[in-house]
Amino acid sequence: MSQHTTHPETDLDVDAVQEFAVRVLGMLTGGSTVAMMVLGDRLGLYRALAAGGSLGAADLAAATGTNERLVLEWLSQQAAVGIVEHDPSTGAFSLPAERAAVLATDHSPASLVGAAPMVCGMYRRVDEIAEAFRTGRGLAWGAQDPTVFEATERFFGAAYRTFLLPEWVPALGLEDRLTAGAHVADVGCGRGLPLVLLAEAFPGSRFVGYDSHELSVDLARRRVADAGLEGRVRFEVADSTGYPAEGYDVITFFDSFHDLGDPRGAAEHARRALAPGGTLALVEPRAADDLATTIATMPAAGFAFASSTAFCTPGSQSQPVGAGLGAQAGEGRLRSVLEDAGFPTVRRVAETPFHLVLEARP
Ligand SMILES: C[S@@+](CC[C@H](N)C(=O)[O-])C[C@H]1O[C@@H](n2cnc3c(N)ncnc32)[C@H](O)[C@@H]1O
Repeated sequence: MSQHTTHPETDLDVDAVQEFAVRVLGMLTGGSTVAMMVLGDRLGLYRALAAGGSLGAADLAAATGTNERLVLEWLSQQAAVGIVEHDPSTGAFSLPAERAAVLATDHSPASLVGAAPMVCGMYRRVDEIAEAFRTGRGLAWGAQDPTVFEATERFFGAAYRTFLLPEWVPALGLEDRLTAGAHVADVGCGRGLPLVLLAEAFPGSRFVGYDSHELSVDLARRRVADAGLEGRVRFEVADSTGYPAEGYDVITFFDSFHDLGDPRGAAEHARRALAPGGTLALVEPRAADDLATTIATMPAAGFAFASSTAFCTPGSQSQPVGAGLGAQAGEGRLRSVLEDAGFPTVRRVAETPFHLVLEARP
């Protein structure tokens, strides 16, 4: 039987305090490591390490045009947390290929490096988020730190690049319709990555993205021009309940439905905007229907709820209706919003480590 040391005055279980303090130290280490990851990403340190094999601080500093002393300190931190390997006999550092797939590129299914600036964005808006807690008036998506817009897309982009074309489109039964030529609207399109991926794959279809955030729409438009997709893809500033109901064959919501102030109103509007036989597709963060199961089964629950507390829920609360669905709404709540909005047939057609994909038909 294990012996517990109880503090004579406070009656606290000293071992439990120490064990929890160690866990909190781990959280502080994680929180500070995210800032170090942003440096590694922004300064090209991870990419240079991935390309360079085994490097000393001087080599890495020379390869990236950075200060050797600071690079050594950063490398020491990265070695301390087990990101880079340190060879004490040579003093060199390396980033194994398996870790480079997570931190040195956006173009890997395992890439997570894009999430790091998202977390830094959270820290930059702590005062405003605290105010949203006090007032209940939320914090608009557009009022977040601008790094969050790009970082969100980089984080979700790994999944979109990996799953959208090979898995989600077939699971939704949309391949033939998109090949033959469909009219597609994406609501809450942000900077437009999923729509551009679809447009590149299905040249016979027409695509329009709607988002209330002007800056994101501007960036999406630039992306269309860069990809030479003008004429087939356009992006417009519009609310999810107010875009033109042009009889779309497909309406998509990529990680945006729970961000809306009025998801039910948006689904009702989508029902009116769909052509007969049309499909509504919802890509949403993967979560269970109850908190205990979500915590037990979702390894990224801590990160996902932090994002929802800082971005998604206050973003929704800042809008009319302010439903505050939350990013981890789960299939049951999403399904009931869709059913209330006139979509009696809702099917889960795919799931990935971070996402679930629902198909709804009127
Ligand atoms: C988490 S981002 C997702 C963006 C994009 N779909 C992606 O996956 O990269 C959520 C988006 O929903 C948009 N949004 C929030 N409320 C909206 C509304 N009422 N009408 C239109 N867009 C809205 C935000 O501006 C933001 O671009």
